[in-house]
Amino acid sequence: MKIDVQKLVQAAARARAGAVAPYSKFKVGAALLTPAGRIIGGANVESASYGLTCCAERIALFKALTDGEKKFVAVAVVARWDGGPMPCGACRQLLAEYAPDARVFVADSADLDTVQKFTVRGLLPRAFRLAS
Ligand code: THU
Repeated sequence: MKIDVQKLVQAAARARAGAVAPYSKFKVGAALLTPAGRIIGGANVESASYGLTCCAERIALFKALTDGEKKFVAVAVVARWDGGPMPCGACRQLLAEYAPDARVFVADSADLDTVQKFTVRGLLPRAFRLAS
């Protein structure tokens, strides 16, 4: 499947506008691409009990999964960070479980044309799993 990277990155940038980050002020947007071409966006949501905060990648993934999507070909993540924000360890674990074959695109919201490319497998080798 030919992936329109720029379209997915733009979707992540749009999703970022929905971030609820009153504590860190660090707004992150994510967008997942399904094999059928559907794009599901999400953004980080923070809590005054900081540990309850949920990252953009997991919000997007939970939205997609609970909407019935089961396969993902790519995920884009955008924040104002030089070179683009790297998914945290917790998000890598969830992506490894539910989007193991996905490609990962990250971009700085100030420069959406410069995209770093990774894979979920590459970002979390030998991930922990219970089901095959
Ligand atoms: N954050 C994400 O949304 N994704 C990541 O991969 C790392 C961090 C959010 C969580 C928190 O709201 C803010 O960035 C600062 O850590």
